[in-house]
Order: sequence, then structure tokens, then C-alpha cells
Amino acid sequence: MHDINWRLLALSAVLAVTAIFQMGYTNAYPNTAIGSFRLFLNESSEEPMTMSKSEFEWAWSAMLAVYFIGFATGSIVSAGIADRIGRKWTLFLGTCGSLLSALIALFSIILKSSLMFGFSRLVMSLSAAISMNGLILLFQESSPTHMKGLISFNAEMAFVVTNLIGGLFGMQGVLGQNLIGLIAVSIIPSTVACVLSAFLKESPKYLFLKKNDATEAGRALKFYQNIKDEDEKMNVLNDLKMEREDMQNQRTGSIFDILSNQPVRRGFLLGFATMQLTVSVWPVIFYSTDFLMDAGFSYELSESVSTGMLFLSTLSTVAGMFIVEKFSRKWLLIGTAVVNILAILGFAMSAILAHYWNAISYGCIVCLILHGASYSVAMGPIAWFITSELVPINFRATAQSLVLGLNHTVALVIAFLTFPLYKTIGPVTLVIFFVLPGALCILMLILYLPETKDKHINEIVEKLKDAKARRKKSRAEEAEESYGMNKLG
Ligand SMILES: *[C@@H]1O[C@H](CO)[C@@H](O)[C@H](O)[C@H]1NC(C)=O
Repeated sequence: MHDINWRLLALSAVLAVTAIFQMGYTNAYPNTAIGSFRLFLNESSEEPMTMSKSEFEWAWSAMLAVYFIGFATGSIVSAGIADRIGRKWTLFLGTCGSLLSALIALFSIILKSSLMFGFSRLVMSLSAAISMNGLILLFQESSPTHMKGLISFNAEMAFVVTNLIGGLFGMQGVLGQNLIGLIAVSIIPSTVACVLSAFLKESPKYLFLKKNDATEAGRALKFYQNIKDEDEKMNVLNDLKMEREDMQNQRTGSIFDILSNQPVRRGFLLGFATMQLTVSVWPVIFYSTDFLMDAGFSYELSESVSTGMLFLSTLSTVAGMFIVEKFSRKWLLIGTAVVNILAILGFAMSAILAHYWNAISYGCIVCLILHGASYSVAMGPIAWFITSELVPINFRATAQSLVLGLNHTVALVIAFLTFPLYKTIGPVTLVIFFVLPGALCILMLILYLPETKDKHINEIVEKLKDAKARRKKSRAEEAEESYGMNKLG
């Protein structure tokens, strides 16, 4: 048994919470503090206090959807940045950008400029993607193998915890009525992240493989893994050297390779479908308070439920950590996805029927809770890594970024349209955007997703081959039998 390095775990936890803080916080406070932002937009419009409802809805939803543009751009550029300036300085750059975004947001409120507030969200999301990628690369490459799982869990946990803090602070009774205070608070953790990351060491892997600096890599190993023994250090460096040789022998697959290779294409599409299922968390994170008010609840109750749901998500994420490795990956994913989609359907139905019979509106609360819990416990975490389990290693990086890029493009459009459409045609919007496409994705997963838990990638690729490719193979093996099958088919 390996000992857990508590110092490393604590360091990565503090960095995760502070570096990801803006991303979770600034996406959650608009939800509970929507009343104050409505006033802010109204006051800062060209002719103050004349904004119509629909003007507000479009402007507000554009301001929130900007997040996806910044995050997708940040994800694309961060890989290049991380290879050029190193993991540590990528993290530093991202955290400084987050700090800057908080300052811009603060001034936008003081100067009553809604355009500037939108710009602060663009800087925030761009920096969030850069710091997230820097953080994950740095800690994945620096921690011993037996701790890698715990460290990635930290990043996920940090997102839900900072979401919760954002929802809580955005409440009317906390800082929701004081936008300046609400934003000023977020400067503290961002400053901590910025300063802390400047004092970290670069990842040993980066130093050794990219910079060819064995001495510095040795020092970094001592810093992150507390390896003092020279022999042990040599062992780790030797492993890295072997990894480099493997890397050089592999050709990295391009987008064209992914699309032209049948099992890889299927793996990629399944990864995309799984990510697509998670898009419905965004309207919930952004607008749940407002949707609940539409269903007839008071502001106080709506914001409490929204915050309570974020709290439940945090607990579910912890529970999920223990559950994920105990059950079949495929059926755990499909099971939670079915609950998740039914919860949205239930929410939409309850919200519609609440106009005829008041008591049904409580169904909205129940469904919101089911939606959050099913997402956090397994569906969300699995969606983030399933693509990498479905495609061979040399396609992994390309496939992952392609899935992420496509997913954010779709999320951008949907997040932008959901709020104004919800206000005009009603809760049926959720059925059109999430329930119907979600059902299609689930059907695809049931039909084609192979079990990936504890399976070797070769076995998974074999399962992803379509009937045609498989027939070709079996024809060669068992000529007679497959001949009969072909005739039947
Ligand atoms: C903006 O303020 C005016 C005047 O108080 C009000 O009539 C209008 O409804 C407000 N608009 C929004 C979107 O809240």
C-alpha cells in the first residue's frame, strides 16, 4: 500500500478551490441574485429604467452564454500555451486572468456598464479554461500514480463547492442585494491562487521531457512527491524516459483520422452524445431561481431551493466518488441519465400544470433535486472521462478537445435561447431542447455503448466495430457460418 501524501493533496485542494473559484462562483451567483442584476441591467441601459422584459431576457441570456465562447477558446489555446511556457506558468496566467476578470466585473458595477460586465465574463471564462487545464496538467504530471484519481476528483469537487458558495452568497439575505460586495469577495481567493501558483515548482514530467533538465526534474520530484532517495528518483525518471520513447513511436490522430476510422468514430460520437446529455445542467445553474418563481414560488423560497440543490450536488459528488468504481459504467451512466431526463420532463410538466392546480408546483422542486443529484452522482463525472475510455490513446487528446469544442458550441446556442424562449413559449422549451435530444442520446448509448470499466482499450475497440467490420472478420474465421448469416441478413 502506498501512503497518501497529505501535503500534496492539501496543496492541490487549496489550489483547485482558489483557481477554479471564479468559474463556479460567477456562474452560480447570477442565479440567486437575478433580481439585483435585473435592476443593474435596467439602470445601465442606454435610457435608464426603460428596459422591457424581453430586452432584459435577451441581454441577460447573452451575458451568461458568453461563458461558452470564452471557455471553448481557452480550452483550445491552453494546450499550446502549456507546452510553450510550462504547466506552472499556464496556471499562473489563468489565475491572474481570473483576478483581472473580477476587477473588471467590480468596475462594471461601479460604472454601471453592462457591456463591461459581459466583457468581464469573457475574460473570466477564457482564464477559467486556461487555469483549469494548467491545474490538471500540473497535478496529473506531478503526483504519484496512486494519487491521480484523488487529484482529478479535487477539480470536480472544487467546481461544485464554488458553485455552492456562489449560490449562497447571491441570496438576497447574504450579498445578493449588494453586487459590489458580492463581486469583491471573489477577489480574495483569486489573489491567493495567483500568489500561490507563482511559488509552485514546474511539473517534473515537463522539465524532463520538454526541457531535458534532469536536475530540476529531480528537485520537482522532491517538492511534489517528497522523493529524496537518489535510486528512487532515477527510477521515476527512467519511467518518464520510456514514456517519451513510446510517445515518439505513436502518430497522433488528426480529426480526419477520427472521422475515417469506424470504431474510433463511433467512440467519438458516443462520447459526444454523453456530453450532450449534460448540457441541461447549465440552464439549471443559471436560471433555476427564476424558473421556480415562474412556477409560483416566492423569491425567498426559490433562491433557498436553488442553493439547497447546489448543496445536495456537493454531497452527491462525494457519494459518486465511491459509487463510480463499484457498478457497471454503461448501466450506471444510462440509469442516471434516464433519471436526469425524466426529471426535466417532470419539471416542465409540473411547471405547466401548476397554472391549473397550485400544489403540483412542488413537483418542480422534487424534479430539480432529482436532476441535480443524478447529474452529480455519476452522469456528470462519467461524461467528462468516457471519451478517453472509448478511443485509443493516440486519438485521445484530439477526440477529447473535439468533443469539448462541439459540446460548448451546442451549449452556447442552447443556453442563449433557453431563457428568452422559456419566457415566451413556456416550460415546453425544456422538452424541445433537452428531453427529446436526451432521449435520442440515451437510445444511442443503450444500443452501442460497450462496457468500459476494467476493460482493455483493444477489447473496447473490438466492441465498437460495426456489424460490417465484424462480419468481415468473422467471415475470415468461420467462413461457413458467416455465409449463412449473411444470407439471412
Ligand atoms: C425597468 O425599470 C422600469 C421603471 O421602474 C420598469 O417599468 C421596468 O419594468 C424595468 N424593466 C425590467 C426588465 O425589470
